[in-house]
Amino acid sequence: MTTSDNQNNENIIIREIQDRKAELADNILILCHHYQEDRIYQFADLTGDSLKLARQAAQADKPEYFIFCGVHFMAESADILTGADQKVLLPDAEAGCPMADMATGPEVEAAWQELLTVDNSFQVVPVTYVNSFAAVKAFVGEKGGSVCTSSNAEKVLRWALSRGDKAFFFPDEHLGRNSARALGIAEDEIAVWQRDKVLGGNSEDQIRRARVILWNGFCSVHMEFSAAQVDYWRRKEPGIKVIVHPECRHEVVQSADMYGSTEGIIAALENSEPGSKWAVGTEVNLVKRLIKKHTDKEVHLLSRDSPCKCTTMARITPRALLQTLNSIKEGHPRGQVSVAPEVADKARLSLNRMLDIT
Ligand code: 13P
Ligand code: SF4
Repeated sequence: MTTSDNQNNENIIIREIQDRKAELADNILILCHHYQEDRIYQFADLTGDSLKLARQAAQADKPEYFIFCGVHFMAESADILTGADQKVLLPDAEAGCPMADMATGPEVEAAWQELLTVDNSFQVVPVTYVNSFAAVKAFVGEKGGSVCTSSNAEKVLRWALSRGDKAFFFPDEHLGRNSARALGIAEDEIAVWQRDKVLGGNSEDQIRRARVILWNGFCSVHMEFSAAQVDYWRRKEPGIKVIVHPECRHEVVQSADMYGSTEGIIAALENSEPGSKWAVGTEVNLVKRLIKKHTDKEVHLLSRDSPCKCTTMARITPRALLQTLNSIKEGHPRGQVSVAPEVADKARLSLNRMLDIT
């Protein structure tokens, strides 16, 4: 098939999505994360970062079906927060988040038990990044902790430390460290829990001293950014502003001018002066959209030589979206993400705690 055949096929699919969306308008809402490609993003009824999408799903009483153009943990959170008669559909079951996969419920539970062998009088408050399995959120909910997102991690961590003498943060080491350091916690009060090591690779003394214990998960997309790239842009374009996502390493966040969730990055560019220059350290599809939108500014992807693409988000293709819409029309909705009620009830505790804290 030639490139022009592919383009014709895609155009046909796009028109069919438009038709199906119009036919099903009363029954569906399409939620879209900012990392989706434009060919999906154009169909969004609601867009947002993880926090905004979770809030919007929780508040929407209308549709029978939420079609989640994001990744699996986002669809799970929406299912937990929406009504029993509403269904959440993920157009591709393989659209997961590799970072979330780095902390399973049983792994987290085993680490928690092991931590308490050092001293079972520790008051540990667990915090899980929203990029995690429902089972991890349920564990955190049961233990009195909270979910956080990239836009409220500092606030939630502060809350956790006000309630206990330690916080155990899963699964993103970097978001955890960036938040802890922003709260003034020193590096020697932070321990990293390495999943495959006894006591996470720490001595008992290190665990006793730690105020924050970080699971060693990471996002490989945000690992593609470095402090050297920040230096490059500062040398090349004096006066340029650098903004990055807090899933980047601490030295990248430190050398940037500011950091924020995807929604925060969008707002910073929106509120900036015409003529200003920006290097942005987050997923490429969002950066491409910012470049297209802000024609009066100069916007660059922070990395010049790596793709910075979330390949699991990219599994939500127009074809997959159309199949989902067709399946609703035919009365056999496909791709439902449904969290077991006993898990959902506990996970809801930790999600609602976050919504109350922020
Ligand atoms: P946001 O909540 O900032 O949109 O981030 C979600 C995510 O997966 C970033 O990698
Ligand atoms: Fe997960 Fe990273 Fe993709 Fe976000 S960008 S969904 S953290 S893999």
